[in-house]
Amino acid sequence: MNILGIETSCDETGAAVVRDGRSVLSNAIASSVRDHEAYGGVIPEIASRKQLEFINSVVKKALAEAGTGLDDIDAFAVTRHPGLLGSLLVGLSFTKALSFALNKPLIEVDHIQAHLYANFLKEPSSREPAPQLPAIGLIVSGGHTSLFKIERLSRFEHLGQTRDDAAGEAFDKVARIMDLGYPGGPIIDKLAKEAGDIKNLRFTPARLEGTFDFSFSGTKTAVLYHVQRHKQDLDKARVAGAFQKSVVDILVQKSIQACQTEQIRTLLIGGGVAANSGLRSELQNACRNNGIALHIPPLAYCMDNAAMIAGFAFHSPDLNPSPARGKRR
Ligand code: KG4
Ligand code: ZN
Repeated sequence: MNILGIETSCDETGAAVVRDGRSVLSNAIASSVRDHEAYGGVIPEIASRKQLEFINSVVKKALAEAGTGLDDIDAFAVTRHPGLLGSLLVGLSFTKALSFALNKPLIEVDHIQAHLYANFLKEPSSREPAPQLPAIGLIVSGGHTSLFKIERLSRFEHLGQTRDDAAGEAFDKVARIMDLGYPGGPIIDKLAKEAGDIKNLRFTPARLEGTFDFSFSGTKTAVLYHVQRHKQDLDKARVAGAFQKSVVDILVQKSIQACQTEQIRTLLIGGGVAANSGLRSELQNACRNNGIALHIPPLAYCMDNAAMIAGFAFHSPDLNPSPARGKRR
């Protein structure tokens, strides 16, 4: 079964063709990220106008790269929520029109769950087995930071989430405080590698003991005060290193704790912050030490993309409402 997926929840316009839920035949993307640079964050009105501008050509590109025409597509999938309303509407309207005109099923997909599903995607020639379920899922993006227990692909149980900023948002805001540019995550990641000794600089994370919730706004404010105090002698690399360590430590600690509490031996990561090199290496160490199988998608599937939407839609009870697949919550 070939599914054409469309993703327009924020500032990326994505279209992809995925076969049988896992084999990515194409994954086309256009981004308005540069148009938001001057503002230090995504401007919803600009994002939705750019979605309108890009969507037709991105869908055409996805079909051409997959070597498929619309006749070869069996169903359409689109991001339903969460996201920016104007941006979401572009994708939803476009996909609904395709589905209506061609009389083929339309599957609406949760963006967050799809980020975690990105771990199941593969190249068509790859024989890589799918990750084992049940799993714990950590989603870390610009808009979300949450932990899930995933018993099966139709059952995601929410364990905890951020009470204020998402992890990626905190990276972006700290970059803004130090005037580093946008998006801040990749810049801080790179700068942190140049940090010398960070032992004596600590931005303590909020522990929120006894919960799987997170909070990053205190850490961000601590960085702001540090920067204000050190206007003359600010070592930006050192601050980037200490801030990143603070965020990474708490993400790793709570993910491992969730695996231990739920007695689960698979950890799936998703979202743009999963591209962070510090997070990747610390998770690898912690999972190795605790006998947990870790899955992090390739970079292209960490960021917003439509392959995760098309792939995840294959498992939707709306596509094949057989009792064996169970009901989605
Ligand atoms: O998942 P995503 O592409 O979009 C959302 O759904 O939010 O994530 C974008 C976020 C941005 O906040 C960006 O700064 C962050 O992911 N990000 C990173 C890195 N690459 C992207 N954060 C830390 N380190 C990175 N290498
Ligand atoms: Zn996302």
